[in-house]
Amino acid sequence: MNLIFRSLKILIVEDEKIIAKDIEATIKRLGYESVGIVSNAEDAIKKAGEMKPGLVLMDITLKGGTDGVEAAKIINDTFDIPVVYLTAHQDEDTVERTMFTNSYGFITKPLDDRDINSAISAAIYRYDVENKLKEAEERYFRLTENAMDMILSQSLEDLAYNYVNRACINITGYAPADFYLRPNLIEEIVKPDWMEHYKRNFRRLAAGEAVNDIEFMIRHKSGEDRWLNQRSTIVKNSAGKPQTVEAIITNVTQRRLYEKKLEETTEKLRAYSNHLQKAREDERYFISREIHDQLGQDLTVLKMDISFIRKKAAKQPEKANTEELVKELTKINLAIDDIINKVRKIATDLRPNVLDKLGLSEAIVWHAGEFEKRTKIKCDTDLCDDGFSLGIEKSISMFRIVQETLTNIARHSGADKVLIKLENINGWLILTISDNGKGITNEEIERTSSLGIVGMKERALLFGGLWGIESEMGKFTKIEVKVPLDPKVDS
Ligand SMILES: Nc1ncnc2c1ncn2[C@@H]1O[C@H](COP(=O)(O)OP(=O)(O)O)[C@@H](O)[C@H]1O
Ligand SMILES: [Mg+2]
Repeated sequence: MNLIFRSLKILIVEDEKIIAKDIEATIKRLGYESVGIVSNAEDAIKKAGEMKPGLVLMDITLKGGTDGVEAAKIINDTFDIPVVYLTAHQDEDTVERTMFTNSYGFITKPLDDRDINSAISAAIYRYDVENKLKEAEERYFRLTENAMDMILSQSLEDLAYNYVNRACINITGYAPADFYLRPNLIEEIVKPDWMEHYKRNFRRLAAGEAVNDIEFMIRHKSGEDRWLNQRSTIVKNSAGKPQTVEAIITNVTQRRLYEKKLEETTEKLRAYSNHLQKAREDERYFISREIHDQLGQDLTVLKMDISFIRKKAAKQPEKANTEELVKELTKINLAIDDIINKVRKIATDLRPNVLDKLGLSEAIVWHAGEFEKRTKIKCDTDLCDDGFSLGIEKSISMFRIVQETLTNIARHSGADKVLIKLENINGWLILTISDNGKGITNEEIERTSSLGIVGMKERALLFGGLWGIESEMGKFTKIEVKVPLDPKVDS
């Protein structure tokens, strides 16, 4: 062991010159280096500060105001240098006093080479171990104290906390001191709904079961609800009995909120998809009924009329009365016109032809006119002309949004005035539809059954657009949709 400390520098504090010289000779013989000899406490402190020796050999009884024990304490505290006492007599009082200083050992006078050597080695070894321990402790302390997660150690016997890092302030609102004063404080703040779950898992943990991950809700000191995730390890005593629980607690509120939002969105989209399926079936049913009931019947009547004329003409061709024939044919002609109108209406309902032919603005004007006629709700339009470039898919979507919004206004708003605006600004087409009705609540917008609204949003998002709603209760509702225009193609 000596080898390691060979270059060790030692300061000798001894007021008896001969002994001091003797010690110096001994340590040199042992291979250490002397940084000098001083004979009183003041000089010892001064020299230690200047020379920064690796060890001080300190006579306990020194002449002057300050004795060796006090000097040792100052040197050790100020410069972190280990001190080994030199003592001539094993005076009990003196030895007891050294207990309160950080003593690294004694060498008894008269001196013996081997005593000196082993005392120095032991002192340096101890100093080294202590430093390593201090470093490890500091590192551990830094890590836990700077962690964002709460770290704790709790006794399973009396549920008192042995350690809680300061992240507890952020996570629970309570300070480490609160935890030290109130054993099992966490259980106090667990929300009632989660108490059973928390206690059950704590019991399993205390019984030594591996309970890795539990999640529960607490009431933060501020009154807010928080979701926490706790990962625990059980520390057992030498007899194998669970003694302490060490845990890391993370605030997972944000994650839980996202999960909830995701669940809601999924549920909404599922409902919307169902709604689309049903709408398609309803539409087919409606069209088939319309074709069957209206066109089918009209065509049957028409067929009967024609066959009546044919029969009459076939039986008595010579008697065929041109005048009567013209009358019958005119009737048939009118019936065909009627059928044509019905077919047109069915086709227009399916897809307004004006949209393909004249564009979105014209289609909106046409639809607004129909809406006003049907509902007696005044429907004004302020539309930019159709000079923008918007693919047919997007145009249909915008048109469907107008239709759905007007239907909603007629069904829910109680409004008597509507304004539809269409603007072409910086590559965006902006549609706003406002009514002066009763307004809409956030709850109505968000609820899962609001599929008309979900549909509009989805249509807008599908084309990289935005959908928004603004409303004041009793005053107005305004829907805004923005979709990016297609880049202009030069012709
Ligand atoms: N213009 C409006 N004024 C007032 N309330 C409205 C308006 N538009 C929609 N709402 C409310 O929003 C809800 C959701 O609309 P929507 O998703 O189209 O579903 P639905 O029309 O089938 O009820 C309606 O039930 C209604 O309460
Ligand atoms: Mg609706």
